[in-house]
Formats: sequence, C-alpha cells, structure tokens
Amino acid sequence: MTTVYLNGAFVPKAEAFVSVDDRGFLLSDGVYEVVPFYDGVPFYLDRHLARLRRSLEAVRIEYDPSPLADILQRLLDADGLTSADRSLAYLQVTRGVAPRTHYFPEQPVPPTVYAYVKVWSRPADAVWGRGFTAITVPDQRWHRVDIKAIGLLPNALAFQAARDAGADDCILVRDGIAIEGAHQNFWGVFDGKAVTHPATNLILPGITRAVLLELAHSHGIPCEERPILVEELAHAEELFFTGTTGEVRPCVRVDGTAVGDGRVGPVTRALSDVFLAHVQAIKEAAAAVR
Ligand code: PDD
Repeated sequence: MTTVYLNGAFVPKAEAFVSVDDRGFLLSDGVYEVVPFYDGVPFYLDRHLARLRRSLEAVRIEYDPSPLADILQRLLDADGLTSADRSLAYLQVTRGVAPRTHYFPEQPVPPTVYAYVKVWSRPADAVWGRGFTAITVPDQRWHRVDIKAIGLLPNALAFQAARDAGADDCILVRDGIAIEGAHQNFWGVFDGKAVTHPATNLILPGITRAVLLELAHSHGIPCEERPILVEELAHAEELFFTGTTGEVRPCVRVDGTAVGDGRVGPVTRALSDVFLAHVQAIKEAAAAVR
C-alpha cells in the first residue's frame, strides 16, 4: 500500500482526499517539484527545494518548504524505496481550499501540500543507444514557464501530439526557436559545441540542465547558452534532452528526418557518461557517511 503525505499526515494513498474546492483542482492554482533519488540518495535536493521556494514566491503562495526534506525521507522509508535504484518524489503545493474566485481567498487558508514517491527506470542501454524520436509542436504555454506551475495542459497536448504521431518526445517551438521539451530541456550540438536555451522566462530552469552545464565545464566539453533556431535542427550534429527522469536522452530523428547520421553522437554520449559518473560519485559519497 502506497503511503502519501497530505497536509501534515502520512496516509495510505487510497485514503488521501482533496476538496473539490481546492484551487489546484479548480484553477490549477499551484506549483510542484519532482526530485530524483538514486539508491535513496536525493540528487541536488537543495536546488529542487530552492526552485520550489522560488515558484511559491512567484505565485505568492505562503509555504515554507524546509520540512519537505524529512517528509520525503519518511515517504521513501514508508514505501520501501530507500535502496531503489531510481525513485522520485512528486511535491505539490496549491493555494488551498476556498470557494472559487479569480482573486485569492479573502480570508487566508492553509495551502494544500501533497507528496508521494515512486520508482522510475532508465531505458535499457540498447534502447538508449538507438536514441529517441521527436516532433516539433507549437509552444502554446504562458510566458512564465520558469515557474514550475501545475497547469500543464499545453505540455500534455504537445506530448499527446507526439504520441499520436508515433514519436517519443516533442520539441516546443515558439517564434521560430526550439525552446524545450514538454517536460525536459532541449540541447543541440553544433560544431562540436553543446547548445541549450538560456535560462529565461521561456524555459523551466532544469536542475539536470544546470548540473550538466557545470559538469561539461569542468570536463572541458564546450557549451553555449543561446536559443536554437528551428531551421538549425536540419544541420544539427546531435540533439538531446535533459531532465530528471530522462537524464541525458538522445534524440536521433525530428519530424521524420534523421539528426546527423541518425545515431547517438559522441557529445551526447560524453555528457551522458559524465552525468552518470557524477550520480555514481554522489551515491558513493552518501554511502561513505551512512
Ligand atoms: N519536468 N522543462 C520542463 C518543462 C519540465 O517540466 C522539466 C521537468 C524540465 C527539466 O527539469 P529538471 O532537470 O529539473 O527535471 C525542463 C518534471 C520532471 C516533470 O514535470 O515531471
């Protein structure tokens, strides 16, 4: 039986209920985070909680996320995931329960805080090694996607369009720029250099993206933060996505056309290798102090 955290209590998932007046349900008035764990060791939990704090402040929901570190650990314990190879915590905070209005509740109400953990798995090496396919889809999201808000309808429509087209992923395109995926950041390789969109209001500032930029820098792999024009996709040497559950995810075909020679390229492989080695080092450092 899965245990979840809801508003201060650890309860079986089947007994966790939220009011139909919850502003998350009625208005998508809330924010969320997804934190990865490797062997039960959180991956950059501090950065995920900092991003959650930033999202909360941006939408003016008053909630201090500091207790979440302990809450997530308790959830992992309760669900027996402390040594799972890969697991994740989903956290959601909404503005709370109040009769539906377009303005904030006049009388302050406590936020609704929900968290659960679950396992996820990396694709088999052979599948990863063949790479994944994507289609381009118009980016119909709002102009503050740097806030990790729960209103993901444009993301879901875009991802479903990819599935309907038989593709694995989608690349959201706004004003001629290949911005990011529906739940991953997007990168291209040009002249051997890994390029990704700058962390503006038009992308979610991915933790995986930031960590990979730092790792690339320390390993001497050239990187650049600049927008990638959709016309550039046709002559990209390599394309890939990054994200919590995708890690470094190669993209070898866009809108039916092969990227480069249609195979996972050396820069993507090198970045994936340094990322996985970094994960291993974090796990070993945690094991040494346990
Ligand atoms: N998605 N871009 C978007 C739009 C995202 O939703 C995400 C994360 C990312 C990558 O961020 P990070 O590297 O911090 O996971 C980029 C989460 C995992 C989700 O919605 O499930």
